[in-house]
Amino acid sequence: MDLYSPIKQALTKAKELYEAREYDRAAAAYDKAASLMAIYAEQAIGRDAEMRRRKKAMEYREVAKKLRSGEIESPAAKDERDDRDEGAAAPAPESKQAKQAGEIKAAVLSLIKSSTIGWADIGGLEATKDEIKYALGITLAKQPPNVQLSAWTNILFYGPPGTGKTLLAAATSRAIRNADDVQAVFFNVKVSSILSKYFGESSKIISELYGTARDTSPAVVFLDEFESIAGKRDDQDSGPERRILSTLLSELDGMEAKGRRDIYVLTIAATNRPWDLDAAVLSRFEKKILIPLPDAAARREILKIHLDKRGFQVQAEPAQLAAATEGYSGREIERLCKEVTTRMVAEINREIPALIDRGLDEVRKHQLKVRPLTMADFQKAIAKISPQTTAADVKKYNEWKEAQVE
Ligand SMILES: Nc1ncnc2c1ncn2[C@@H]1O[C@H](COP(=O)(O)OP(=O)(O)OP(=O)(O)O)[C@@H](O)[C@H]1O
Ligand SMILES: [Mg+2]
Repeated sequence: MDLYSPIKQALTKAKELYEAREYDRAAAAYDKAASLMAIYAEQAIGRDAEMRRRKKAMEYREVAKKLRSGEIESPAAKDERDDRDEGAAAPAPESKQAKQAGEIKAAVLSLIKSSTIGWADIGGLEATKDEIKYALGITLAKQPPNVQLSAWTNILFYGPPGTGKTLLAAATSRAIRNADDVQAVFFNVKVSSILSKYFGESSKIISELYGTARDTSPAVVFLDEFESIAGKRDDQDSGPERRILSTLLSELDGMEAKGRRDIYVLTIAATNRPWDLDAAVLSRFEKKILIPLPDAAARREILKIHLDKRGFQVQAEPAQLAAATEGYSGREIERLCKEVTTRMVAEINREIPALIDRGLDEVRKHQLKVRPLTMADFQKAIAKISPQTTAADVKKYNEWKEAQVE
């Protein structure tokens, strides 16, 4: 798909609306162009092209914001420039400091991802989904007259690996969207990789990250592997580590956005090791939600998502299947489904290896066959994949949960 034409369309529409002085609608069109441009950026080949496109996306968001706040900058001038990234002018020579600032900005922009995960892609966890929806609703809906409800800005997910923490964060970010499907900007931060790549600069990256998130509001900042940035500190720790923590604390307090109802930055942190977190950081999280291993009903839902919704027919009894997968995480169930389906397909399409030898054209023309999956298929795969989370692990999470005073 050539994404550039819908972008161009959105921009043309925005310009028309602007000229008709329909500033709110023009802003919405710019937001749409920004979201499309962000997706276009993800598809870019090469980092330079990606960064140029991300910058464009930010510019469109900026124009939208200015249109909304009444601080109108003529968007006409922007449109005159060629928005396609080919033939961009060579950058002017930069000072060392400017270059470093540019690199930090680029590192932050590269964290923006668009989420395609919806609530229906997550099996079970209904109460958690509702809890998140309440938090969003209370924050985003019109306040009752003369009443100021406080916004929910920090949520922590903890629990065993592969239970849907990352999925929930992605669905939350997609849930914050308007009728044009312009969604919240999702910053997906794998903390350990930021730390290893930019150790000395990490605290600058955090400030830049939250600054950009405020500029692109509404935004969701997802801090994955949170314990590696917000772990307990002792006297042995180095300066940069302490700086990171204090920057993080002030960003979690949201000092910069205080009292500004129009800015919404939601921080979602996730960890498998909540007991390693710094107490001051922990106290900033209004919601700490345990994402446990799925119960039998949730396992049935997860199996449905990975089998039935993908068109496979299952002849095994759902209750029996759910019972046989006790102790499995969502990720382990997904692996099990992959194992079962590929084995089945390999078994009834024995011609595949010979076909591959005959070349790509032959393979592309070939129609694969499937058959319904039976309990025997599952039993073979279950014997091969065993769950990794132990009863002792589960107990540890539950005990930590009990020890948290609300
Ligand atoms: N509740 C669920 N419903 C459907 N699929 C799930 C569920 N939980 C996990 N999965 C599957 O497992 C994969 C991993 O889930 P996810 O990345 O959300 O786990 P996580 O809790 O973030 O794990 P980790 O702690 O290791 O980061 C998902 O991509 C999905 O395919
Ligand atoms: Mg995860």
